Amino acid sequence: MRVAILSAEAVPYSKTGGLADVAGALPKALKQIGIDSFLITPCYLQTKGEHLWHVAIDDLWVEWRGKPYKAKAFYSEANGSPTFLIDAPEFFHRDSIYGYNEDYERFAFFNHTALALIKRLGSPPDIVHLNDWHTGFASVEIAHLRYWDSYWRNTRTVFSIHNLAYQGGFGSGELWQMGFGSEFEQNHFTFNGYASALKAGLSASDMLSTVSNRYGYEIQQSENGYGLDWLLRMRSDNLIGITNGVDYDVWNPETDENLRAHYNYQNLDGKIDCKKDLLEQFMLPIDLERPVFAIISRLTAQKGIELIQQVAGEIINTGAYFVALGSGDSSYENFFQQLRDYAPNQVGVFKGYNEDLAHKIEAGADIFLMPSRFEPCGLNQMYSLRYGTIPIVRAVGGLDDTIQNFDRVTGTGNGFKFQEFQADKFLEKIYEAIFTYAEKDSWRRMQINGMLEDNSWQNAARKYVALYNLTLGN
Ligand code: ADP
Ligand code: GLC
Repeated sequence: MRVAILSAEAVPYSKTGGLADVAGALPKALKQIGIDSFLITPCYLQTKGEHLWHVAIDDLWVEWRGKPYKAKAFYSEANGSPTFLIDAPEFFHRDSIYGYNEDYERFAFFNHTALALIKRLGSPPDIVHLNDWHTGFASVEIAHLRYWDSYWRNTRTVFSIHNLAYQGGFGSGELWQMGFGSEFEQNHFTFNGYASALKAGLSASDMLSTVSNRYGYEIQQSENGYGLDWLLRMRSDNLIGITNGVDYDVWNPETDENLRAHYNYQNLDGKIDCKKDLLEQFMLPIDLERPVFAIISRLTAQKGIELIQQVAGEIINTGAYFVALGSGDSSYENFFQQLRDYAPNQVGVFKGYNEDLAHKIEAGADIFLMPSRFEPCGLNQMYSLRYGTIPIVRAVGGLDDTIQNFDRVTGTGNGFKFQEFQADKFLEKIYEAIFTYAEKDSWRRMQINGMLEDNSWQNAARKYVALYNLTLGN
């Protein structure tokens, strides 16, 4: 089976969020179980030169808006499996990866060029695996090409939803310009009087998946469907949930190069050194008895930062530490700065993106907060489990699927979760966590429960292979 995976971001080439972790790790896991797969992603200004091994194709001609355009493709295996990076500076060499009015066009171009690249590479893929709105264009292009280009006749598409909230909307008038001239193609995009790349992916792909079972259910309800729940319900026979995995080559306290000391479930002594290191990083006084609460997040409404704002004062009042790593909405960024000014001996804040610090926080913190409004899967709660850091999450999407409340009597469970999006419900769990933290044996039991869990990509990759087979009718 030959599989081409398209993603707008992938570790280590580019990253703004969890999509990059997934797109970097899944092809590697597929390769490990013997699947012939390759990844195609854009080459951004932010992509490090050391990750571009060599030029694979230096004259990748495509027609774009009626004119010929010459792109290049780099080759790399920096993520542990074959990757092609499409180099077209006019589209991808920008100060940031997303955030431009013409993003829809940038990614439509990426899709169109990726399909030209696939064809140049030789034998047709059985599956083209697409991810999020940035790749919805390709599903329509393949559905269309299949009828008159024998190269694509047997290729099937799988579209994975990582986040339904981002839809890639634009004026329908643009479709024709970007090569989607037929009614067949345009119907896939059309949604409420405009064009949506996400809707196109959901409508034209042969099979759909999302990144947890729970989210798969939630997006079929009108409250979480962003106007597309009807389509997801219509396609529910072709929609399955596959929970993301963790790349334990990258997120593992036994080997993590960013840590001062290493540890595992049998001996957690190294975690204490990591806690000390973390407090030093944030120039906080060292008191190892007090718990460290942490967040690492895009600072957007999705992540429930509003609830953190409401409980932060109470956390500080208990005497605990609180560290935050993130960037995003300026009101949230300002809030964390103010919190640090209010309690400089208890609060540490890093505004921005910092991969190394993210690892140090996972290892050095005691409690990780994810009170999301919605969460398709969420990766940090799973990273936390492996690092012996106890997650407190809201019971939504992948958070609900991966975290079970700790039961002090039976010693089962790996964290704490609450249901309603309310500060008092969140606080109850925060106090329960502080109480349990004081009972050393219970805390250790809970840490070990989480550290022993196997959320590796190998399991998830096998489920993707089963999905690919189902899509091919095997
Ligand atoms: P989402 O994709 O919605 O942002 P996930 O939990 O799936 O949420 O993935 C977030 C990923 O981005 C994790 O790998 C997390 O460590 C990382 N991350 C988020 N914000 C930062 C930041 N400021 N610095 C470093 N890593 C970050
Ligand atoms: C999205 C979601 C996140 C998920 C990630 C990877 O960014 O917000 O919950 O873990 O994609 O699938």
